[in-house]
Amino acid sequence: MTLPAAFLTLYSGLDREGPGEAADVLWALDRLGVAGPVSVCDAGCGSGADCLTLGTALPEARIEGVEALPHLVAEAGARISHLPHVRVRQGDMEALTGPYDLIWSAGALYFLGVTEGLRRWRDALVPGGAVAFSEPVLLGGAEPEAVRAFWQDYPRITDIGGIVARVASAGYRSLDVRIVSGAPWAGYYGALEARIATLRPGADAEMMAVLDGAAREIALWRAAPEQIAYALVLARPS
Ligand SMILES: C[S@@+](CC[C@H](N)C(=O)[O-])C[C@H]1O[C@@H](n2cnc3c(N)ncnc32)[C@H](O)[C@@H]1O
Repeated sequence: MTLPAAFLTLYSGLDREGPGEAADVLWALDRLGVAGPVSVCDAGCGSGADCLTLGTALPEARIEGVEALPHLVAEAGARISHLPHVRVRQGDMEALTGPYDLIWSAGALYFLGVTEGLRRWRDALVPGGAVAFSEPVLLGGAEPEAVRAFWQDYPRITDIGGIVARVASAGYRSLDVRIVSGAPWAGYYGALEARIATLRPGADAEMMAVLDGAAREIALWRAAPEQIAYALVLARPS
């Protein structure tokens, strides 16, 4: 994955690189009954916020974060260095081998596609293993123009029924869904906005364009903050 330097600079030093909360991770562990000496992957772990939550909640487990971008691998590694049962490696989440009891993936499976990614991960799960992933979702009803504008670069977005159908075509059953909207998005965009403000003074043209793009994304979210959401889906091979 090659990204412009200005983009990598903006998305450095953040608590996380997409909306989500520790409570989402804990909800998934509870619903799936994941506990004890299990093996868990955080696929597309970014700077490791969820590796930290998984490592703290599962002290007997083996946790492995997998992330493509080296600077995020370094940030995540520093964050979990006090947890010997957690490690983070640079790698391609498309090529997971496992075997894992749980593959957790916050805001990253859409890089592979829900159906395509779940098919790839099937052989990386132990029998009875599960995947928990968050995916952009339309909440239904009349979608305001602001929601369509926010998701314009993700034309594959569907409502929850569409996600369940994509999960089924990968040969999985959807077990439960939690809608992630509001506060986790406000937290993520609040931190990103602060980072934009820090970088603006002295930014060159390339950096300014990246900062303006991110500021536009935040403004689009602000136009419909309760209707812009991820679905956190728990799924198991059927
Ligand atoms: C939106 S960010 C979410 C990061 C983190 N899960 C979080 O919620 O803070 C998606 C992450 O997936 C990573 N990613 C995308 N494709 C990947 C791949 N094929 N293998 C590993 N990581 C990948 C990106 O580099 C990015 O850090």
